[in-house]
Amino acid sequence: MTDSSRSHRIALIGGDGIGPEVVDQGCKVLDVLEGLEGFSTERVDYDLGGRRYLETGEVLSDETIEELRSYDAIYLGAVGTPAVPPGVIERGLLLKLRFAFDQYVNLRPVKLYPGVTSPVAGLTPERCDMVVVRENTESVYAGAGGTLYKGTPHEVATQESVNTRHGVERVIRYAFDVAQGRPRKQLTLAHKTNVLIHAGDLWWRTFNEVGEEYPEVTRDYVHIDAACLFFVSQPERFDTMVTENLFGDIITDLGAAVQGGIGLAASGNLDPTRRAPSMFEPVHGSAPDIAGTDSADPTAAIISLGMLLSFLGEDAASARIDRAVGTWLEERASGGAVDSTKAVGDRLADLVSR
Ligand code: NAI
Ligand code: MG
Repeated sequence: MTDSSRSHRIALIGGDGIGPEVVDQGCKVLDVLEGLEGFSTERVDYDLGGRRYLETGEVLSDETIEELRSYDAIYLGAVGTPAVPPGVIERGLLLKLRFAFDQYVNLRPVKLYPGVTSPVAGLTPERCDMVVVRENTESVYAGAGGTLYKGTPHEVATQESVNTRHGVERVIRYAFDVAQGRPRKQLTLAHKTNVLIHAGDLWWRTFNEVGEEYPEVTRDYVHIDAACLFFVSQPERFDTMVTENLFGDIITDLGAAVQGGIGLAASGNLDPTRRAPSMFEPVHGSAPDIAGTDSADPTAAIISLGMLLSFLGEDAASARIDRAVGTWLEERASGGAVDSTKAVGDRLADLVSR
């Protein structure tokens, strides 16, 4: 008898460059996990991204969006190629999916695994284990604003930050849920309330009002500029952080650096209401400089797969990935390294069964 709640439909968007290479390694690991944990997936490949745009002139049609809507999750490699002008794929595919599926949370763990060397001298794994919850649909990304007198010396450009009570409240509530589920139960709001007095005031009041529903969670506040300093000098200050879209975009890249680089940074674009699929992807791009050389590190894509499985309720499979990644990174640190993309995928597919 099959349990339909454990049969998951996953859309695969390998994308461009190293994207399909790293997604393939994730699928290898997924094959093994299905056998071990007794769930099943139906996976369908979607050919989207910069290469396809150059061939067909199409980025993402409404029909494809509606098809994708029927999946339980989307697993994405990376999209974008140097030949496509900047913005076409970012706005036309990544942002379009985020908005169409109302993926209002961007979830980014910032965790230093044992054996990984952080560029922050002396940083230990005990001091760096946090999760950033970034608002993913509002702020300056909403596209409000405009241009006047373009191309003249009097040109005016505005890019307004849109913050709604609804949007702010739902992401803050999600962040409190995350914090509540972690051992330290601490949530830090990062903003710039001293200068952004309108948006900051909305975030600050909402943070404290929602926080009243979570008496076990300790509340903290930090200005975003100071947060950048503390991410490097005292990352142990943070457990769970919630912040608005632009600040979150920037600080999570800093987080990726602190945790040992872009090859390890994973993310999820979530619709916690589950009305539409959530999308999981490594933070890195399509790395055209190394595409086709079997040298991309697939670890971030595999950590992202772990987040995907956790979101679908396959916690045991997700925990297997976390343990396997931990072991593999220690192996790599001690020089027993296998380096090619495929070899890392094989090694992790083996380690998840331990
Ligand atoms: P990138 O992340 O693709 O590459 C930056 C540097 O990191 C390159 O030297 C690359 O070789 C290296 N790198 C990245 N991932 C790696 C991995 N897994 N293993 C080993 N080395 C890795 O960023 P870049 O060069 O700015 O962008 C390249 C293309 O990717 C552009 O078209 C960009 O628009 C797109 N992009 C797509 C993203 C997405 O799909 N979410 C995110 C970032 C960029
Ligand atoms: Mg990415």
